[in-house]
Amino acid sequence: MTEEQEIESFANAIVTKGITVSYGNILALDNFSADVPSGIVGLLGPNGAGKSTFIKAILGLLVPDKGDIKIAGRDPVTERSAVRDMIGYMPEHDCLMESFAAIDFVSYMGQISGMKKRDAMPRSHEMLDFVGIGEERYRLISSYSTGMKQRVKLAQAIVHDPKILFLDEPTNGMDPLGREEMLDLIRKISDSDKSILVSTHILEDVERVSDHAMIISKGQLITEGNLDNLLAGKENLKFVKVRGEEQAMMNFVKILQDSYDVHSVTQERGQTTIEFMNPGDGKSIFKLSQQANVQLRAYSPKRAALEDIFIGTLDKDDGGVLDGN
Ligand SMILES: Nc1ncnc2c1ncn2[C@@H]1O[C@H](COP(=O)(O)OP(=O)(O)OP(=O)(O)O)[C@@H](O)[C@H]1O
Ligand SMILES: [Mg+2]
Repeated sequence: MTEEQEIESFANAIVTKGITVSYGNILALDNFSADVPSGIVGLLGPNGAGKSTFIKAILGLLVPDKGDIKIAGRDPVTERSAVRDMIGYMPEHDCLMESFAAIDFVSYMGQISGMKKRDAMPRSHEMLDFVGIGEERYRLISSYSTGMKQRVKLAQAIVHDPKILFLDEPTNGMDPLGREEMLDLIRKISDSDKSILVSTHILEDVERVSDHAMIISKGQLITEGNLDNLLAGKENLKFVKVRGEEQAMMNFVKILQDSYDVHSVTQERGQTTIEFMNPGDGKSIFKLSQQANVQLRAYSPKRAALEDIFIGTLDKDDGGVLDGN
């Protein structure tokens, strides 16, 4: 590779053109083209969108019906061994050899990725320290909790110090604290100048780790870009929560609908939540709530604003439900 090509390939770590993958008569990727820039990139989409299929195609684990894929300028199928050394992969489902102790498993995976045994063992200790597995590393993986298994999966993905990392739903099955720690680890890994593609159906995970998101649904790229740009124009979306008599709450909704662009109204346990666009502050809303004789419980910008990018683009009826938690 010339120096010029190398620089270009790292600006766009992964370049894909017109990938089509089908499983029997299921079209999992539909003429999918996307260039994945370096840095942390969130691959976001509902269940069944094609995220794992996209990752497996990039890794050369499945061969597309058609389309071109290049990782740092190399073909994952025909240049398999060169690609293997520079990528790390944390699969969505279990890849662990349960009858191994974690330390032996991670060291073994390092050797599979081209490391010498005498380098793989000390490096595996270092990586298990990094992901927070202590003395348990000598125990069989079969005795591990889900969260511990996720950590070992991450350790084996980074043991050979790859330049490009694929993490498929890394926070799956983790409790809130574990999830936070996993996202922290991902941020730390990216500080060491790596490209990381993180697939998830949890919007907040992407917001926590990434500047750039690719949104995928039904095997197609819906939109992609810098998160700030994707969120531009959404910052005026606010929500207000009120309590009161049923009729009073209905009147309040009506008053808001007359003056604002109301996006949604939901009612739960005697409380009404209204989402609407309001570039101003909350003073006028407070007055309106007094007029309508309802009690104002909360008024604030909508935090999970990324969800709004999906409004109108995803069909929620076909299992494409996005988790906002
Ligand atoms: N081995 C397979 N055999 C048949 N169909 C498959 C297979 N793997 C995936 N599919 C189908 O391909 C489509 C894309 O699946 P994929 O696993 O890539 O989605 P995903 O975005 O990773 O979903 P999830 O969030 O559930 O992991 C789905 O309709 C899925 O049912
Ligand atoms: Mg998946």
